[in-house]
Amino acid sequence: MSRWKAKHDKEHYYKLAKKQNYRSRASYKLKQLDKKYGLLKPDYNVVDLGAAPGGWSQVVCETIGEEGKGQIIGVDLEYIKPIDHEAFTAIKGDFTTEEIQNTIMELIDGKADVILSDAAAKLTGIKDVDNFNAYDLATAVISITDNILKKNGDLIMKSFQGGSYDEINKTLKKKFRSVKTTKPNSSRKRSSEMYVIARGFKGPKKNKKNNDN
Ligand SMILES: C[S@@+](CC[C@H](N)C(=O)[O-])C[C@H]1O[C@@H](n2cnc3c(N)ncnc32)[C@H](O)[C@@H]1O
Repeated sequence: MSRWKAKHDKEHYYKLAKKQNYRSRASYKLKQLDKKYGLLKPDYNVVDLGAAPGGWSQVVCETIGEEGKGQIIGVDLEYIKPIDHEAFTAIKGDFTTEEIQNTIMELIDGKADVILSDAAAKLTGIKDVDNFNAYDLATAVISITDNILKKNGDLIMKSFQGGSYDEINKTLKKKFRSVKTTKPNSSRKRSSEMYVIARGFKGPKKNKKNNDN
């Protein structure tokens, strides 16, 4: 793809987001993933990790929360401007910490049907550090999944080709019935960003000690 085409696509989604009142171009990535895989339902409890400025949460709010059902919890290091929707709650903080993971667990009504993660750490330009940070984030997402995702629930997670991609995929394949990797049209072609669609969570790993009892 030419530089011109890549720039054109980026500007296209940027302008469309402005026109349609989405907070970020990223909204179209979730819209395209939802259209392709049918991820969201009106009564779902959803957790959106790395949610700021709130483009994905806006898309979720368009589907969930009818008749008081459904919930969306957005978490980010940055402040997330409130979304005018009764189902939306924002948490400001680092989801790799126990404190924020506990806050998510306190706020969620039961367990989550879907966990979304578009989280990306700030790049340092030092390959090893960036790979480590990406791995750290992915590990935290998987740990949250173990604690709060419903059995048979889905995880949609940003991932980057190279680095720890293979290792994360291997872990997810043990935990989910189906794991696919895709790149929506609205994701920049030159970026190594991909999205993992992990469906059918098998449930948290059972404690062997308890099993033996
Ligand atoms: C690409 S943006 C997300 C865009 C969002 N999906 C949207 O549609 O508006 C990635 C976000 O991940 C957040 N992030 C990165 N590491 C985080 C962490 N440890 N805890 C919480 N948020 C984190 C960043 O602050 C950033 O806002």
